[in-house]
Amino acid sequence: MSEIKIFDTTLRDGEQSPGVNLNKMEKLEIAKQLERLGVDVMEAGFPASSQGDFEAVKLIADTIKDASVTGLARTVKSDIDIAWEALKNTAEPRIHVFLATSPIHMTYKLRMTPEQVIEQSVEMVKYAKKKFPQIEWSAEDATRSDWKFLAQIIEKVIDAGATVINLPDTVGYTTPEEYGKMFRYIREHVPNIDKVSLSCHCHDDLGMAVANSLAAVENGVTQVEGTINGIGERAGNAALEEVAVALHIRSDFYLHRTNLNLREIKRTSDLVSKLTGMYVQANKAVIGRNAYAHESGIHQDGVLKNAQTYEIITPELVGVSSNTLFLGKHSGRHAFRDKVESFGMELTKEQLQEAFTRFKQLTDRKKEVTDDDIYTIVMDIKTEA
Ligand code: KIV
Ligand code: ZN
Repeated sequence: MSEIKIFDTTLRDGEQSPGVNLNKMEKLEIAKQLERLGVDVMEAGFPASSQGDFEAVKLIADTIKDASVTGLARTVKSDIDIAWEALKNTAEPRIHVFLATSPIHMTYKLRMTPEQVIEQSVEMVKYAKKKFPQIEWSAEDATRSDWKFLAQIIEKVIDAGATVINLPDTVGYTTPEEYGKMFRYIREHVPNIDKVSLSCHCHDDLGMAVANSLAAVENGVTQVEGTINGIGERAGNAALEEVAVALHIRSDFYLHRTNLNLREIKRTSDLVSKLTGMYVQANKAVIGRNAYAHESGIHQDGVLKNAQTYEIITPELVGVSSNTLFLGKHSGRHAFRDKVESFGMELTKEQLQEAFTRFKQLTDRKKEVTDDDIYTIVMDIKTEA
């Protein structure tokens, strides 16, 4: 099993979610939890973007010992200098510089020619190399860039000293097959590519960020970037908990492992959700409230006989205490009896039948029947007897 490094950008790209603003102590709290989770690299922020972010990145860089801390910078000297001041105390200072390579970004946003983009990238990677031993260079909007041009610029930034090449799907435009092909093309057309690690970074505009990341892994990428709960610009980034659990559960297929302590996933997800105010949808894969909940009678009966009938992930794997049998209008007798027994109550066969009938009637009037509702039904029947 070869190792896939997890690069967490919850504190940078994740914080770019509209409406999210973390102060430095909140960022530090999340950083400490990311360290417990076992991420390999955490991008703590964009030091040149504000004094507050500079201080947060510095505080995290000075505190975190078991993960590599990095910060984002444009390919301009002042950003690189500010990032150095924030990151210089880490064991192996690492910077993440980026410049767009797609025709639309070069023409309209940067107003630069492709030659100028190459020149600026090379120059700034060389400049960063004077200080930073580890340099990640990202081709922003790589998936809408010309592959021949990408191969050309990548070769040059590697010669200039980059140690990681990241090809982001900045606007969530690509498909798994196409993204995989792009990495294969780069590996086949850049002569010095073996000197660096390849990284993927996906956004979720078309809902394919995790699938695209996994396709990149199948095509030689050794670092996956993303965020906890998939938060980030617009529709967000690849959800790291989904990537890691997919690699774990389907290790028979992917043949890769990560260094994540999967049992810390739920705690990390809850903390990020609480501090960012971005709530996790109930049906979210891996950590949504319903991810380990079963409602229909057929499913509940199956799970009570053998959980693997309807659960491919055990809740404990990701730090969720147990599965739940949600009692609603589709639920059956088996789960209902189980619930009554969990209260330590004994009912006769007839009483149980009566309780089940009243429960079913209630489900037609109430969306969510709680344990208290069922307890009341059972107590009523007991006192009537
Ligand atoms: O999505 C993106 O292109 C980015 C870069 C800054 C790496 O977040
Ligand atoms: Zn991004």
